[in-house]
Amino acid sequence: MNGFWSLWVMGLVVLNAGITFFLFVWAQKVEIPVLPDGTTGHVWAHGVLREGLRRLPRWWVFASASFFVWGVGYLLLFPGFGGFKGLLGWSSHAQHAADVAVNEANIAELKARFAKMSPEDLAANPVAIRIGERLFIDNCAACHQRDARGNPLLGAPNLVDASWHWGGDTASITTSILEGRQGLMPPLGSLGADTVTDLAHYVLSLSGAPHDPARAAAGEPQFALCSACHGPTGEGNPVLGAPSLVDSSWTWGKGDLAMIEHVITDGVSGVMPAWKGRLGTDETRVIIAWLRSQAGDRLAMTGR
Ligand code: HEC
Ligand code: HEC
Repeated sequence: MNGFWSLWVMGLVVLNAGITFFLFVWAQKVEIPVLPDGTTGHVWAHGVLREGLRRLPRWWVFASASFFVWGVGYLLLFPGFGGFKGLLGWSSHAQHAADVAVNEANIAELKARFAKMSPEDLAANPVAIRIGERLFIDNCAACHQRDARGNPLLGAPNLVDASWHWGGDTASITTSILEGRQGLMPPLGSLGADTVTDLAHYVLSLSGAPHDPARAAAGEPQFALCSACHGPTGEGNPVLGAPSLVDSSWTWGKGDLAMIEHVITDGVSGVMPAWKGRLGTDETRVIIAWLRSQAGDRLAMTGR
């Protein structure tokens, strides 16, 4: 701030401080006439109350004087008096820059320390998993839920079980996060409702879920169509993001007959956005460390 507005603010400050100072001194000196009975002669409440006279209490005078001195001192040392920068040269911009620099130095130190640790050690490091959890809540929880157990409405998979669409080793998970993923299960309703139900019973039989054996047997030959992506035994194919149908982990629902019929009839396709524009490998490693700490042995993570 400079030029006219600086002078304007300075003028207002001097005027205000001047009036305040004058009133303060004047209030100490002024003599209010006192009647012989010790009152000012002002009468209140129809003569019931008469106004007495007391000096200002010492603590009040002292406090006011201190505040005044403090205020003037502040304006001398810090910015506030128009365009005057203050004797200390302090500014909120410089303070902010200094705080950010300290923060970045701390983070750089942490990153360097984390970079030397194995995924297993990271997952056992309380600071790393706390940062990982924060990053997960900020970036991922909206779709995968706060506890990382997934959301069937969006087709966001559970990230803390042993079942993975795209592979559960650290490298595959890192690629899933940084590059994004989109699986495509085509709609196959054209097979007809009967065939879809047979296939659904066969899918249920794969994981040992309750099913109709006759219908499952009828569905088995049809599964050739599915095995192109889900593998001949339904164990899944991480190259295509086709999940295993032989475990009891389901992404798009609870794995009941109606849900499986719906997936086969209408198809499904989840979209995992790419995070590399927003998160680096360092952040990704600590997120995976948190996932790992939540999943324990269930994460099939190996290597770096
Ligand atoms: C907009 C919703 C959304 C957000 C936000 C999101 N994801 Fe995903 N994520 C998905 C969906 C949907 C899939 C399944 C993609 C597919 O296979 O079709 C997925 C898949 C994944 C996979 C692969 C899972 C597997 O079984 O192979 C990982 C790992 C993953 N997400 C981690 C993350 C992390 C970590 C974040 C935060 C940095 C994140 N996701 C943010 C929706 C999201
Ligand atoms: C072109 C490859 C492809 C073919 C063919 C295919 N699928 Fe899929 N299927 C996928 C992919 C990829 C997903 C995961 C989609 C996603 O989550 O984004 C999937 C998901 C599923 C799911 C949901 C799994 C879960 O965890 O919720 C079921 C059930 C399923 N498929 C059954 C079948 C059956 C039965 C057939 C044969 C009739 C079949 N699929 C054919 C690729 C395929």
